[in-house]
Amino acid sequence: MKLSGKHIFVTGGAAGIGQAIVRDASAEGASVSFIDINKAAGEKLANELSAAGLNVLFVEANVADFDQLSNAFAKAVSKFGDVTGVVNNAGMAIHSDPVLMSDKEWDEFFAVDMKPVWLTAKLALPAMRKVKSGSIVNICSIHGRATLPGFFPYGAAKTAVLGLTRNLALDEGKYEIRVNAVSAGYVVTDGINNWIGNEKNAADEANLVQPLGRMGKPSEIAKVVTFLLSDKATYVSGSDWSVDGGLSARSA
Ligand SMILES: NC(=O)c1ccc[n+]([C@@H]2O[C@H](COP(=O)([O-])OP(=O)(O)OC[C@H]3O[C@@H](n4cnc5c(N)ncnc54)[C@H](O)[C@@H]3O)[C@@H](O)[C@H]2O)c1
Repeated sequence: MKLSGKHIFVTGGAAGIGQAIVRDASAEGASVSFIDINKAAGEKLANELSAAGLNVLFVEANVADFDQLSNAFAKAVSKFGDVTGVVNNAGMAIHSDPVLMSDKEWDEFFAVDMKPVWLTAKLALPAMRKVKSGSIVNICSIHGRATLPGFFPYGAAKTAVLGLTRNLALDEGKYEIRVNAVSAGYVVTDGINNWIGNEKNAADEANLVQPLGRMGKPSEIAKVVTFLLSDKATYVSGSDWSVDGGLSARSA
């Protein structure tokens, strides 16, 4: 049980990588609170895991709305006590055009894919600083370092998350709070299926460039996140973990 006694707060935990993180962290002994805008999927997951005897709380909330986020965070604290670990996972890929994208669309996108890394830190750090312990894991992407045509401005958001990871890691280190990023490669979730499903042969082409010959499973990301949240990683901070099957080692 790598996470016994810990309370982990996960954003976007109802589906995909976030759901795998909720499953793995709760199976490893943590109390897990998670938020999502998908109420039906969130409640279904929480009911399933609670029925299996795990400590799980779901609160419907939009990570881009600070009132909703802070209310959900307060509910989580009142149920399981102070949050000891945060996973910033909620996010969406976007395929926009610098001329056509509106000012409003830009703000809405960065409000989901970047700003919450700061907002959850604002909520979680006071208690973590007090006890001089804590772990924050930001789910980033291979796009944080090298992106693809048609992904404007997703790459910028993920690069910004890496920058925030470093800023927080350096400033919070004196409180023994660790902050790390996990840069995922292609992981089979609804998120990626929405993109790949729109392009002919895209899944085959994506598999072809993978050094391991396949895309990743959400559980394969979750296991690394659990490690970073755990006391097995007490000297790991400010780092960016590639969990991409080797894809970022490859040149074009
Ligand atoms: N799937 C991949 O290949 C891949 C690769 C690299 C990085 N990522 C990153 O991993 C994270 C999860 O991706 P995924 O593929 O599992 O996505 P997904 O679309 O399958 O799941 C995302 C979850 O987040 C929730 N969500 C979305 N917006 C939200 C909001 N505003 N507030 C609260 N919840 C919200 C969704 O309802 C959903 O449950 C994202 O940050 C994504 O950028 C994914």
